Amino acid sequence: MNFVFAGPPGAGKGTQAGLFHARHGLPHICTGDMLREAVRDATGLGERASEYMRRGDLVPDALVDEIVRARLAEPDCGDGFILDGYPRTLEQARVLDASLASAGRRLDAAVLFTIRDDVLLTRLAGRRVCSRCGMTYHVEYRPPRAAGRCDVDGAPLAQRKDDDADTIRHRIGVFRELTGPMVEYYRADRRLLQANAERPIQQIYEEICGFIEAPDPRQPSRARVRPIEVRPAPAV
Ligand code: AP5
Repeated sequence: MNFVFAGPPGAGKGTQAGLFHARHGLPHICTGDMLREAVRDATGLGERASEYMRRGDLVPDALVDEIVRARLAEPDCGDGFILDGYPRTLEQARVLDASLASAGRRLDAAVLFTIRDDVLLTRLAGRRVCSRCGMTYHVEYRPPRAAGRCDVDGAPLAQRKDDDADTIRHRIGVFRELTGPMVEYYRADRRLLQANAERPIQQIYEEICGFIEAPDPRQPSRARVRPIEVRPAPAV
């Protein structure tokens, strides 16, 4: 089960990937988290990435491609993975395919989370993240048991630096502008699935489980992915 979760900022990619990690043990590989960690640790990568991230722009492909390539080579990814927020450009999608092919592997599907901009704004404005473990909450839709504290480790919750209103709008604009060709790439070879990301968290989770578990009658021996033509994704 080699999956990409794609969609605009705040669509819920990380929330769903976290559920798949918790319930199915699939590694959740979030390039945003990896880059934030590099910035926090002031590594060379972090220094090169920080200005792009602060503005809400994409970090150059070559930097991101390299950290993903290295992560996918780790043993825990051998039985599958969920890539959250990578690829975001056509070039990244091509590099990912080439990198997997060189290891005799293939991406099964990209799940596109579709959602309107006004819903994204509400989600990101209310998002809170644990300052220690990174667990994600929402003040209204997914509140912690104790206000302002993480359910897992009790650490204080904080807002992400790029979750201010101007940067959110910019990030959404970047997604709408740059991600279309990547979506078309996956659609063209029938690896694109679409999830309506405006519904409650559990319903989205169940829909994605259906994608993964429903047998594909055309390829019974390969990944169990529902035929792609079920719901064509709209242009983004
Ligand atoms: P990244 O950290 O990946 O941010 P993003 O793509 O902007 O996505 P988010 O993490 O903001 O949203 P999400 O879809 O995961 O939503 P979440 O589950 O948290 O990237 C940050 C930066 O790193 C980029 O701007 C770029 O600079 C750089 N970068 C990363 N990858 C890169 C790449 N491949 N190439 C180049 N640069 C890259 O949910 C949001 C909120 O909504 C939460 O509060 C959650 O609790 C709530 N919520 C979730 N689902 C629901 C639901 N169904 N109903 C109600 N509330 C919900």
